[in-house]
Amino acid sequence: MSEFKLNPAAFDVSDFLRNDWQKRPRIIRQAFLNFADPISADELAGVALEPGVDSRVISSKDGQWDLQHGPVEDYSYLPDQGWSLLVQAVNEHFPPAQALIEPFRFLPDWRIDDLMVSYSTPGGGVGAHLDQYDVFIIQGQGRRRWQIGSPGDYTTITPHPDLKQIEGFTAELDEVLEPGDMIYIPAGFPHAGESLSECINYSVGFRAPSQAELLSALADYALDNDALERRFKDSVGNDNSNAKPSGWHLDENALQGFRQLMRDALNDNKLLDEVICQLLSQNPRPPLLVWPETAVTESGVKRYLQRYPSLQRAVGLRMLTTDVAGQRYGLVQGQRFELTDASSQQLFTLLLNTHLQIATDNLLELNLSSAALQLLTQFINEGFWFVETEEQA
Ligand code: SIN
Ligand code: CO
Repeated sequence: MSEFKLNPAAFDVSDFLRNDWQKRPRIIRQAFLNFADPISADELAGVALEPGVDSRVISSKDGQWDLQHGPVEDYSYLPDQGWSLLVQAVNEHFPPAQALIEPFRFLPDWRIDDLMVSYSTPGGGVGAHLDQYDVFIIQGQGRRRWQIGSPGDYTTITPHPDLKQIEGFTAELDEVLEPGDMIYIPAGFPHAGESLSECINYSVGFRAPSQAELLSALADYALDNDALERRFKDSVGNDNSNAKPSGWHLDENALQGFRQLMRDALNDNKLLDEVICQLLSQNPRPPLLVWPETAVTESGVKRYLQRYPSLQRAVGLRMLTTDVAGQRYGLVQGQRFELTDASSQQLFTLLLNTHLQIATDNLLELNLSSAALQLLTQFINEGFWFVETEEQA
């Protein structure tokens, strides 16, 4: 797998974090020296056909936009120009592309969403739009013109129900990117990219949940776990004011009662932390879990480790660690596991940092405690990690 390293002469991480990150767009010329695409256009089209992969073809001709959801088997209906194939989470489905995420680990891993890769024909693009995500876009093969404006109150248009664009913006940056160049666009900055030749672009997107998403996650969590069950109580009759019931009129007093009830729901830090960890440890694109045919036991797992060279990680699995009252926990796809001893913590760290397959020798070297072995057994039974047997290979 080839490595990608940011060119320190072009990109100073601390300077970037201090001056640009989430503040202003930036063009970084030759962010990657001698950039070599980790995927070809044909390979990208192949990834787009795989199960669980989210892809779109966006085309425009004479101002008419069209969008087709993948998997797209046949591109012959498209002209030679004016369209792009966009494929989400290519890092999860095409292992060599994961290497392009690595240089961005100067930001917390849990902020990273995915690597979206696009292939465009000349004139291809998705039109002027805003993203809710901070994004680094790396220019692979070809050349692309990028125009970026300032945040503002733009009118949204939807030339196709699944294609959100904005009406014109004034470009404050207007530059052509060459292979190895990179552009950083903070969330909310209007932009448009138009290919000047056949080209490939890599977008490293950073997840930033909105208040609405967080509150929706809180509500889901509370409903699933019988939390936040306090209900509205009338103040009528309690305030000695002899106030009459106010018919269908919702008065200030009642509104205040509802507002307070909602605010009180946000006072429990323990609950909020559980919701945050659950949300951030889940991939918004469901992972492709692979369950064993029959549940494995701990001694069965020991035999696996002896017999097979590697364990595979389910595609798209998300994990993180957190501390609660001094105790370390590991979260996998929203499920929380207590990491009770040093061995379990070592195991979790190793699994966390291994994106694809893990050599069983590395696991054996850890000399797993019985708690750690139990944990690994649970992970295998949950379909998080699996052995690729001859039948599956
Ligand atoms: C792309 O077409 O590669 C990127 C689209 C975007 O601007 O988000
Ligand atoms: Co964009």
